[in-house]
Amino acid sequence: MSFTADRLLLFGATGDLAQRMLLPSLCALHADGLVDEDLEIVGTARQPFDDAGYRNFAREALEKFMPADRRGGMATFLNRLRYQPLDATDMAGYAALADKVGTPKQGLAIFLSTAPSLFEPTIVGLAAGGLAGEKVRIGLEKPLGTSLESSREVNDAVARAFPEDRTFRIDHYLGKETVQNLLALRFANILFEPLWNAAHIDHVQITVAETVGLEGRVGFYDGAGALRDMVQNHMLQLLALVAMEPPSSYDATAIRDEKVKVLRTLRLVAPDETVTGQYRAGAILGQPVPGYDEELGKPSDTETFVAIKAHLDNWRWKGVPFYLRTGKRLPERKTEIVVQFRPVPHSIFAGRGALTVPNRLVIGIQPEENITLSLMAKVPGLDREGVRLRQVPLDIAMADAFAGPTKRIAYERLLLDLIEGDQTLFVRRDEVEAQWDWIDGIRASWAVHGLTPKPYTAGSWGPSAAIALTERDGVHWHE
Ligand code: BG6
Repeated sequence: MSFTADRLLLFGATGDLAQRMLLPSLCALHADGLVDEDLEIVGTARQPFDDAGYRNFAREALEKFMPADRRGGMATFLNRLRYQPLDATDMAGYAALADKVGTPKQGLAIFLSTAPSLFEPTIVGLAAGGLAGEKVRIGLEKPLGTSLESSREVNDAVARAFPEDRTFRIDHYLGKETVQNLLALRFANILFEPLWNAAHIDHVQITVAETVGLEGRVGFYDGAGALRDMVQNHMLQLLALVAMEPPSSYDATAIRDEKVKVLRTLRLVAPDETVTGQYRAGAILGQPVPGYDEELGKPSDTETFVAIKAHLDNWRWKGVPFYLRTGKRLPERKTEIVVQFRPVPHSIFAGRGALTVPNRLVIGIQPEENITLSLMAKVPGLDREGVRLRQVPLDIAMADAFAGPTKRIAYERLLLDLIEGDQTLFVRRDEVEAQWDWIDGIRASWAVHGLTPKPYTAGSWGPSAAIALTERDGVHWHE
């Protein structure tokens, strides 16, 4: 359904995501003239603000979370905002909400960033209030369920009012520039694709390391854990983009068809192929930090770290492990993908005493966006004592290569695509279900084998068993 929305309705308009990401992103899009002059934004949440009160609230959030040099259009942006208080479980409130939204000229985009328990009543309320017609699309922020079954319930509830082509499931990693760049790297260059398979790649590593701890999200995080909070969505999306077959075009259906195919080839993980951990008190960047149980105020079996050796059962990736790890309170904030190539089949330099180290491609997603390809080169000299070879990096720092374009946060891209109706960077239902299917298998195996998280010191790279997971294959985590 192609239309550019001229009304945006934000559920959870006073929440953390709205303050840190959504309002700053919308303000930036406004300042850069990327959204229509007519776009009106209606916020809703429980808090009893009126329009002026919400504008004040939004201004404070922007001043707190938006860099000063990007706040240019703030004053005029605030004029776009209106607000309607709503208890999402009270059906009586939706008529007033519909009145506040009014009648868009083009169409309405809704962004749902609320507690999962409110999804179902909200969808029912929207439908009853006449806010779910053909010219309405909906964006859904995670978590969409906690298992395959519960995610199906959420998706069924949404589908009763919004067909798939008007449902936009958000995974904010897909809004990150370097994540999209994976597609360009793989499919806009001839160089990599012929080597991108089990014959030439030894293994792949995906790391999403964070230094933060619970960040006041105690209730949510303790019921989720690292596997469901990070692997089910972000890490599996990264894996799918690395491993999928070439789509026929840069198009929502073509790309999502290939992603779901590869997600469905994920093999059930064996019990000795996962390691879980929970951080204890330690130090992050020189500052002492409490342990997870202390932050939580009680003991818990929730994992704050997980490492997995994953396998894809298909021709391209047979026998190539994908090592995944993610955790809170690790030594640095770093998201990266490492593609480790195999050694050359025969080294002509061996007789001259020189070692050849296999090539490696490192795709840095954050905090730095860069791509590094390590190549072997000859150390300059007369080689009187034998040829000497050394690894040298071929480095592309995105910030230098593209110094001009503004660096945007993921939600700017995703909100714009939601407003304009491009589903390419949103997750389709079958993808989410394939992701949950695999995750449920891992959790079931943890339960059967009584696996509980091993302690690790905050500021370390997780439990030592995570190191052993790769070392026993002769592989070192890239640090
Ligand atoms: C969220 C998780 O989806 O992603 C958080 O719920 C996590 O626990 C966050 O901190 C990480 O996002 P980013 O963009 O900072 O890597």
